[in-house]
Amino acid sequence: MIPNNLKDLVTFVPNKNESIHNWFYYKEGYSKELIEWLVKEYKLTGPIYDPFAGVGTTLLVAKNLGISAIGTDVSPLTSFICSVKTRNYDTSILKEELEKLAKLKPTMVGKYPNKKIRELFRAKNLDDIYYYHQKIFEIKDEKTKNFFMLALIDTTGRVANVIKTGGSLKKIKKHHMDVKKLLLGKIKRMILDIERTENKKKQISQNIGQPLESIEPIIYNEDARTFRLEENSIGCVITSPPYLNKIEYTSVYKMELGLFFDEQETRLRSYVGDVPSVEGEEYAGLPNIAIAYFQDMKKVLENIYFCLKPKGKAFIIVAGGCLPDRTVNSETIIAEDAKKIGFTLIDIITAREIACVTNRTQHIGKVKEAIIILEK
Ligand SMILES: C[S@@+](CC[C@H](N)C(=O)[O-])C[C@H]1O[C@@H](n2cnc3c(N)ncnc32)[C@H](O)[C@@H]1O
Repeated sequence: MIPNNLKDLVTFVPNKNESIHNWFYYKEGYSKELIEWLVKEYKLTGPIYDPFAGVGTTLLVAKNLGISAIGTDVSPLTSFICSVKTRNYDTSILKEELEKLAKLKPTMVGKYPNKKIRELFRAKNLDDIYYYHQKIFEIKDEKTKNFFMLALIDTTGRVANVIKTGGSLKKIKKHHMDVKKLLLGKIKRMILDIERTENKKKQISQNIGQPLESIEPIIYNEDARTFRLEENSIGCVITSPPYLNKIEYTSVYKMELGLFFDEQETRLRSYVGDVPSVEGEEYAGLPNIAIAYFQDMKKVLENIYFCLKPKGKAFIIVAGGCLPDRTVNSETIIAEDAKKIGFTLIDIITAREIACVTNRTQHIGKVKEAIIILEK
């Protein structure tokens, strides 16, 4: 049965209150509940593959259900977050390192070199972030280092004088916040989340009378257009690609990418459909950015088809595109392309309708956000 709040479940909002899922707010993601529903409703078995893994919603749900999972994401930021959220941890090691971190008193370790980034912070806040960045970087245990680094990335977003709006960063002035307090509080909550999740798992294991495995998903920082898993090796695919004409992946996260991943400026407008195509007879009438998008999506569909086991299902959550002069029904075009590749189209479930507006007020029309269900 389709949940009556499906329109909310295709967004990241419900994850706000979900432990581990909420370690980093990722507006472009979907909810834990959506994946749990799909797995239960369609009796899905692993391995589950998510080619656009984002911050790991699919993979974390799979892990917590004891199902093996694989993900790819082209962004170093989201691949990192996804990986930190899905590791198994020894909380005693985390607590030990936290104690050491708590004893430190931030001092000035130098002026942060990038002026564009400096402009986004109160000077003292950036000095502290720079200090903790170096201290965390020195932690020898790789898992602990990454765990703390994610807490720092989140803290950085909280203290920066910007908010993420639509496809860009908007400068605002925030009141003074204590980086140390925020960072330590965040790490403590993250450790609590791990403990709670482990306890829940123990309870479920007792109820079902067998241990629920904690299989760490495999994550590749790769491009889904070119990356291929082994033929017939995957039980099902659950994924959500970037949406047509949505460019936030490279613009909204430029602060995190610049500070923590040395990516000062990225060349890409988006990661799918970034090379405008001129040829594309099968999409006649569509503008070049849309042709490039669907050609790229076709490559991903071919890779998914290749790695799925026969009768394996693919669930693709996608919304149509709002272009300046028209709307594009991406779900129909992607479903048609999938059929040409060899998939059977099982269903297209509409989750919600989105109004397309340009120049802030001019209504262009409506597009759907939908779940395309395919079978090999
Ligand atoms: C809609 S988001 C997926 C969010 C994910 N479902 C979640 O809940 O976190 C799409 C993701 O695709 C990634 N992406 C974009 N182009 C890609 C490509 N060519 N290959 C792999 N990942 C890509 C983006 O970095 C982004 O994280």
